[in-house]
Amino acid sequence: MRSERKPVHGAARTAVPGVGILLGAALFAGIATGSAIAQPAQPAATSAALPGQALAFDRSQGNCLTCHDIKGGDAPGNVGPPLADMKSRYPDRKELAAIIFDETKRNPLTVMPPFGRNLILTKQDIESVIDFLYTR
Ligand code: HEC
Repeated sequence: MRSERKPVHGAARTAVPGVGILLGAALFAGIATGSAIAQPAQPAATSAALPGQALAFDRSQGNCLTCHDIKGGDAPGNVGPPLADMKSRYPDRKELAAIIFDETKRNPLTVMPPFGRNLILTKQDIESVIDFLYTR
């Protein structure tokens, strides 16, 4: 019995990536043809849905891009570190909020503006920016 089952398991295991690739190809083909026919607005809607993105990228508000590389942003600066993998690096939202609110508390010599303390961003704005950063 055992020796009959093993090849079945082996076959099932090797079949999974193959199915994944096929599904991926089918999805890609679906998106490629689908966007050409019916829904040109859909990809833009899903990627630009978060208000925090506008805050983070806006030169007169968050302005994070001037100093930080953030995926999806144009012409980022490198004064600060890239803001990537934010959810895994900052699982504690409060820690991230504290940095954005007033980074001088962690580093008195930082050039990063204390967005909350200086009323550049409201607490609600900061929460929106965090929602957005958690997608990066
Ligand atoms: C004037 C430049 C500047 C701007 C604008 C700026 N930052 Fe920063 N930021 C820095 C620097 C420099 C650091 C490095 C740490 C330090 O100086 O204390 C930093 C650090 C950080 C960190 C910690 C990064 C890490 O990898 O641990 C986060 C999070 C952060 N910034 C978020 C933001 C967000 C969100 C905005 C926009 C609302 C923003 N920053 C705008 C300069 C800036």
